[in-house]
Amino acid sequence: MFSFRTIDIPKDSKTITTFRRDSYIISFGDESLFGDDDSYLNKISERLIKYPNGLVLVEVDRKPVGQIELQVKLFENKEVGYVNLFYLISEYRGKGYGAKLIEYAENFFRKYNVDEYQLRVSKTNISAISFYKKHGFEVLKIEEEDTIPRFRMQKLLD
Ligand SMILES: CC(C)(COP(=O)(O)OP(=O)(O)OC[C@H]1O[C@@H](n2cnc3c(N)ncnc32)[C@H](O)[C@@H]1OP(=O)(O)O)[C@@H](O)C(=O)NCCC(=O)NCCS
Repeated sequence: MFSFRTIDIPKDSKTITTFRRDSYIISFGDESLFGDDDSYLNKISERLIKYPNGLVLVEVDRKPVGQIELQVKLFENKEVGYVNLFYLISEYRGKGYGAKLIEYAENFFRKYNVDEYQLRVSKTNISAISFYKKHGFEVLKIEEEDTIPRFRMQKLLD
């Protein structure tokens, strides 16, 4: 049902900024921490060079219904997978489809031979935290940035 395709800038610029802005509203209550569209699009363009399969739109019948942003990062001197974004539009949430995003991410990270992957989630994003726990993530620590507490969560890859 879902297909995944690499983000194409400028074609997908409007879609990805809309989705990313919405994710900030869900996580932090407003989009003030998002910054401006051009900085975001530049950041994505740079990451696309290194991780073309890590920056994808999730589509159903060619309609974008979600977005994933993945990369490999250093954490405490070790390379780990890192999820910058898991996002589904509202009508696709709460139906178990997020499992497909997890599956995509884990296939991506296995290709980079990392043992684990991490993400950060706002302490107030209760349904996302519940989703991550259901899929085997554990809280590693609490980090505070921009005065907002976030859980850093981790999942080991088998
Ligand atoms: C996080 C997300 C990818 C999970 O995918 P999903 O397919 O919705 O996952 P699930 O269907 O397993 O539901 C996850 C939880 O959200 C709850 N939920 C139900 N309806 C929901 C809705 N309309 N919106 C959000 N969450 C909902 C579910 O009850 C579930 O909690 P439970 O496991 O305790 O029952 C998806 O909800 C999403 O994109 N949310 C908005 C963006 C976001 O918060 N991203 C994470 C940022 S770190």
